[in-house]
Amino acid sequence: MLVLGIESSCDETAAAVVRDGREILSSIISSQIELHRPWGGVVPELASREHLNKIDPIVNEALDAAGITLEDIDAVAVTQGPGLIGSLMVGVCYAKALAFARGIPFVGVNHIEGHVYSVNFENPPVEYPAVALIVSGGHTNIFHLPHEGEYRLMSRTRDDAAGEAFDKVAKMLGLGYPGGPVIERLAREGEASKAKFPRAKISDGSLDLSFSGLKTAVVRHVREQGIEPADDPANVSQEIKDVAAGFQKAVVGALIARLEQVSEHVSPRTMIVAGGVVCNTVLRDAATALGNKIGCPVYLPSKHLSTDNAAMIAAAGHFHLAGGRRDDLGLAADVTMRLQNAGDVRPAGKVRYRV
Ligand code: KG4
Ligand code: ZN
Repeated sequence: MLVLGIESSCDETAAAVVRDGREILSSIISSQIELHRPWGGVVPELASREHLNKIDPIVNEALDAAGITLEDIDAVAVTQGPGLIGSLMVGVCYAKALAFARGIPFVGVNHIEGHVYSVNFENPPVEYPAVALIVSGGHTNIFHLPHEGEYRLMSRTRDDAAGEAFDKVAKMLGLGYPGGPVIERLAREGEASKAKFPRAKISDGSLDLSFSGLKTAVVRHVREQGIEPADDPANVSQEIKDVAAGFQKAVVGALIARLEQVSEHVSPRTMIVAGGVVCNTVLRDAATALGNKIGCPVYLPSKHLSTDNAAMIAAAGHFHLAGGRRDDLGLAADVTMRLQNAGDVRPAGKVRYRV
C-alpha cells in the first residue's frame, strides 16, 4: 500500500510517500526556521501562511521524488493534532480535498504517534510490550505500549517540554533559535560540574517530569554568577559553555531516570526514543546505555527522522489504514489531541525541587 503522508502541525511543511509503512520512497521537508528565527520562536500566523504557500509544491515534489503520480497513491495520512490550529488546518483541508478528489481513503494521525512510528524505517519491527519516550519542542511523554496502537501515558511533563526548555535557555543565554543544536555544540566545550542544576521531584511519587524549575535555576545561576548573555553565538564565554553542559546534563539525566523507572514497571521488549530532541547525541548515548543496562533493544530514528517529517505520519497512518480505519470529511484539526487509549496511571500532585 502506498501512503502519502502530510505533516504541517508546527513549522515544517512535509510530504512523504511510504510503502507498506516501512519503506520511504520520498520524504520532503520544507523548514520555516529561517522565517521564524528573527522572532526567537514560531509565529503561528506566519507559519500557517507559509504552509499554504508550500503544501502543494511540497506534495508534488514528494510524488516526483518517489517517481510516481497521484494516481499511484492508495491512501492519504495527515497530522490531525496536536499542533497550531492554523498550521494543522492547512494540512487537514489539503489531505481531505485530495482524498475526496481521488476517491481514496484518508486518516488523521496523532503527531505524537507519528514520532513513535519514526523508528519503523531503520529498525526491526517493534516487539511488545514497548516503552516510548517522545521528546520534542512541544511534547515530553513516556508511554507504555502493551500492544501496537495501545498507549498508556506513564509520564509527561507538568510544564515545559524538554525541547522547549532547550529553546528558552538558549534564548536567555543569547544563543538564538532553535536552542537544542547550539546548546549541544557548546556543551561539548563546557564542564557540567561548574554549573550544577536541580532535578525536579514530584511530591506525589508520580513518574511525571518538570523542566520549568530547571529553567529558573539557570536564570538564577546566570544572575548570581554575573554571566553576560552572548552577543555573538560564534564567540561564547566559557561560563556559558559550562551552563550549557550543566543544563543538558540535567535534562538528559531527568529523562533517562524516568525512562528507567517506567521500564522497571513495564519490562519492555523494545524501547523507542524519538522526537526532535533525540538529535542530541548525549541523549542518544544515554538511551543506548540504559538499553544495554536493562537488556532491552533501543530504537532511535536517525536525525533526519527525529525532527518533524511526513514519513512518520504515513507510517502511523498505514497502521490505522491496514486495520481498516477510514476517516470521513468531517475530520477536524484537533489542537490538543491526546494519545492515551489504554488508561492514564498518573496521579496529580505538586512539584518540588532538590539539587
Ligand atoms: O520534533 P520537533 O522537530 O518538533 C516538535 O514536534 O516540537 O522538535 C524540535 C525540538 C526543538 O525544541 C529543538 O530545540 C530540539 O527539538 N532539538 C534539540 C536538538 N536538535 C533539535 N534538542 C537538544 N539537542 C539537539 N541536538
Ligand atoms: Zn514533532
